[in-house]
Amino acid sequence: MKKILAISGSLRSGSKNTLILHAINNHFAGRVKMELFDGLADLPHFNPDIEMDNIESVKQYRNSLKHADYVLISTPEYAHGIPGSLKNALDWVVGSGELIDKKVGLLFSSSSEALFVQEQLIEVIRTMSAKIDRSVCLKISGAELTPEIISLIETLIS
Ligand SMILES: Cc1cc2nc3c(=O)[nH]c(=O)nc-3n(C[C@H](O)[C@H](O)[C@H](O)COP(=O)(O)O)c2cc1C
Repeated sequence: MKKILAISGSLRSGSKNTLILHAINNHFAGRVKMELFDGLADLPHFNPDIEMDNIESVKQYRNSLKHADYVLISTPEYAHGIPGSLKNALDWVVGSGELIDKKVGLLFSSSSEALFVQEQLIEVIRTMSAKIDRSVCLKISGAELTPEIISLIETLIS
């Protein structure tokens, strides 16, 4: 069975972005294996000086990414940008390359249109040479699993 690594850009307990990933996991159980990455807060601040050191949390994160067929990120917008913990996680794999050629889908659950974070995150993911296009990027409201979200996941794993 193909694997999705799901990453929530919010560390908040009760996060809508995390809840929607759980809902997707329940809906697609049996069709695709989803791992919800819960180590975002354990990653140290990215520092190129220690990039290739054997840091356990980084090793596990890179390993999860490496073995995933798809990556699904659901994130809020913070101050018109990408939440720092999510950007930090992405910076950890710029050099090691686990996102290269990986199919990535993006969901954005934020209180406004989240236009800034959408454009910024798409640009970052493209720059990291992952496979992404607008058909797998969606602004969503709250944590409700809608037909649009289901359709996006179908497209991502097709
Ligand atoms: C520090 C901070 C900054 C925020 N900045 C924005 C913003 O720029 N645009 C926006 O739409 N929402 C902003 N919000 C609101 C979040 O989008 C909203 O709380 C969202 O539901 C958080 O996602 P979560 O439920 O997954 O934690 C901000 C929230 C916080 C805590």
